[in-house]
Amino acid sequence: METKPKIIVTGGAGFIGSHTVVELLAAGYTPVIIDDFSNSKEWIIDRLCILTHSSIMYYNVDCKNYETMHEIFMGLGDISGIIHFAAYKSVSESVEFPIKYYDNNIGSLATMIRLAKDFNIPKFVFSSSCTVYGQAEQLPVTELTPMQKAESPYGYTKQVGEQLILDALQQGAVILRYFNPIGAHSSGLIGELPNGKPENLVPYITQTAIGKRAQLLVYGNDYNTPDGTCLRDYIHVVDLAKAHVKSLQYLDKNKDTNTFNVGTGRGNSVLEMVKTFEAISQLKLNYKIVNRRSGDIEQIYADTTKANIILNWKAEYGIKEALIDAWNWELNLQELKLSA
Ligand code: WQD
Repeated sequence: METKPKIIVTGGAGFIGSHTVVELLAAGYTPVIIDDFSNSKEWIIDRLCILTHSSIMYYNVDCKNYETMHEIFMGLGDISGIIHFAAYKSVSESVEFPIKYYDNNIGSLATMIRLAKDFNIPKFVFSSSCTVYGQAEQLPVTELTPMQKAESPYGYTKQVGEQLILDALQQGAVILRYFNPIGAHSSGLIGELPNGKPENLVPYITQTAIGKRAQLLVYGNDYNTPDGTCLRDYIHVVDLAKAHVKSLQYLDKNKDTNTFNVGTGRGNSVLEMVKTFEAISQLKLNYKIVNRRSGDIEQIYADTTKANIILNWKAEYGIKEALIDAWNWELNLQELKLSA
């Protein structure tokens, strides 16, 4: 029986990683999860097994550790590709603890690139971020839009990460620049699990709606946008997950290194997100407009033409479906009294 190509998924128990594992299995791959569970829960693995009716191989290790990873790779035999999600992703925390971010985000990527070369692994997909653009002059941003000086150590680790890939993996790599990932799998079995108080908008909205948070603070309504609040390109996490499968399939045929924006191509404001959530949940959200949050850019959204044509990938869902799925996930979490 033909074995299914093994794909190493670092951070595979995390928000985007877990949703990508589902899509990898659906596309006929064998994902092998590497996760130190510093920002995810082990019960997500059980959920993934239930959701996909599969047993999923995973290792509870820090992928920065070259010796440990080398041993795992030796035992796995043929590895067809690596998808590297593992990274810390809090902008504010990166400002407070820059060394933790440089060590982990760049250190783990450097280790994974070394392993890819040592084991001649032909395909490498790296999770980058629209953060690399900063506040672009021209919108929507294309992949040729120049990077601005990073606003945070987190953003800088993504810029350096992209350069590491370009310098060290001349062939067989795809860099995906995520816009704002939101939502959850429609089953309600997997979703976003913020560590403590959510930094990002959508989990804060759902936690406020369910009563975990008293009030949503909207950071500024004095921006130069239609309703004064910031615009972002919110992309359903399942759409984002599918872009990773498309990237592996692209690398089956193309031995180059390529970069793609992964967004919907539309910008929505914070207040539009609040109003849409109220409409889908039939709830009145308790929120207050407060001062701007430092480090926030005014607006960004993607030109996704390149991914649409070259990866044959396009986002299928909008903010309505994503907010419905995010809310369903929050309700399921509460029902099972599972803490995030
Ligand atoms: C969105 C908007 C806030 C919370 C994040 C990650 C970044 C990247 C993209 C992965 C902003 C406003 C938020 C709240 C609010 N992810 N907001 N009240 O900052 O665009 O970037 O996603 O690569 O790493 O940081 O997302 O959800 O934090 O903010 O008003 O309680 O919502 O001001 O305008 P952001 P976000």
